[in-house]
Amino acid sequence: MTRKIIIDTDPGQDDAVAILLALASPELEVLGITCVAGNVPLALTSLNARKVCELAGRPDVKVFAGCEAPLMRPLVTAEHVHGKTGLDGVELPAPQMPLQQAHAVDFLIETLRSEPAGSVTLCPLGPLTNIALALRKAPDIAGRVQEIVLMGGAYFEVGNITPAAEFNIYVDPEAADIVFRSGISITLMPLDLTHKALVTAGRVAAFRALGNRVGEVVAGWTDFFERFDKAKYGSEGAPLHDPTVIGWLLAPGLYSGRHINVEIETRSDLTRGMTVADWWGVTARAPNATFMGEIDAEGFFALLTERLARL
Ligand code: BDR
Ligand code: CA
Repeated sequence: MTRKIIIDTDPGQDDAVAILLALASPELEVLGITCVAGNVPLALTSLNARKVCELAGRPDVKVFAGCEAPLMRPLVTAEHVHGKTGLDGVELPAPQMPLQQAHAVDFLIETLRSEPAGSVTLCPLGPLTNIALALRKAPDIAGRVQEIVLMGGAYFEVGNITPAAEFNIYVDPEAADIVFRSGISITLMPLDLTHKALVTAGRVAAFRALGNRVGEVVAGWTDFFERFDKAKYGSEGAPLHDPTVIGWLLAPGLYSGRHINVEIETRSDLTRGMTVADWWGVTARAPNATFMGEIDAEGFFALLTERLARL
């Protein structure tokens, strides 16, 4: 049986690879892609998502534009990592497929209400604005989501956009707070995990050696956005954050983590957007999320490469 998912995203090269991985995987049925402002503004994320669907040969996928800005704050973007377009590194043709008319938040609500309860998984790969707004507008959908598997947060690795906060949570901490208090089952892929899935030179070479257009493009993207993290961390490769969400849906045995309490700092100017994770169980706060900590990087990249070869 296939698993129904909605990918909520701000592409971003790593978001793009996550979308490709999902579209290459017969175990998953992508009901729609909802775009949000994040790495770059909404006009670009909703354009990029369609370019990626067309690259995958899937112009039939429904792509929706959602929120242009976080719930309560001005947008913070990450062109310093992803380039001006969000997908710098390879130029893709302008998409022919249309953007859907409906707002992403309405699509989320309508889909969760019309599909059988407990049958749709949400996969947020950017700031949580669309998901939080949907929960605010339609609190009944919380009980209908199968689970949320998201990329965001950090504990031992602390921040990548501030010393304390990971980008997706930092951009819209109020939205993240709504999601983490929603009672929905949450699994998160924090920096602690994604920093163990580095795109080394050998792994980029394996993408390039696939011999298809997708392999060339993914190698071009990873070459581009790697330069930032390699310089920053002095590591042999950069993390490929967002595909770890889809990887977990396909092969959860490659991952391990802890079911713990995770709360979002929204008030402090210094640590806003921090995921305060009770990894050591030092509070009596109820667990609300599975916080992943380890990944079998070899297994993950083997899976990713094998799937991209199918496109
Ligand atoms: C996250 O922020 C974005 O830059 C990436 O696409 C990823 O979702 C990593 O902190
Ligand atoms: Ca992202």
